[in-house]
Amino acid sequence: MQRTLAIIKPDAVQRRLIGKIISRLEEKGLEIIALKMTTISEDMARENYSVHEGKEYFDKLVKFMASGPVVILVLRGKNAIEVTRRLMGSTSGHEADAGTIRGDYAMSGRFNLIHGSDSVETAEREISLFFENETLLEHEMSDLRWVYDMPGENLF
Ligand code: PPS
Repeated sequence: MQRTLAIIKPDAVQRRLIGKIISRLEEKGLEIIALKMTTISEDMARENYSVHEGKEYFDKLVKFMASGPVVILVLRGKNAIEVTRRLMGSTSGHEADAGTIRGDYAMSGRFNLIHGSDSVETAEREISLFFENETLLEHEMSDLRWVYDMPGENLF
């Protein structure tokens, strides 16, 4: 199972979309193994997006991410990184496919509702930036054998 970090961005929180976004992630079958609502500092935002340092939009992105409360989640599942990014849709809301989170709720490239890690290395770095390892749940949801079609002793 793979882990990934998702951040429900300040625009989504202000637009009261937390519940809708979390529902999509949950209903797909991803497990939430950590979750917190907080306001991140500009330093933390800078660190999280360090690979984009130097890009012309970097300062605006940092200010936006530190502009208000966010919800930060660690998600676990098979191919969790790619699955989460597919659910998110492409970067610009106005270009994202209908049926994705951004495609259904966003129009902007910067105010695009959700961040998701883009590789295993990035995911592990981002998770450790926001969560102590021992706070990540090891508990497994009881529905996993139905989500992943894993026949168990009580099933066919
Ligand atoms: S890249 O170069 O393809 O990796 O960049 P991209 O994936 O398109 O975007 C990286 C993150 O930067 C955000 N972004 C912006 N923020 C502010 N202003 C502008 N113009 C802008 N363009 C891109 C974009 O939302 C990505 O953030 P995350 O949170 O990773 O989706």
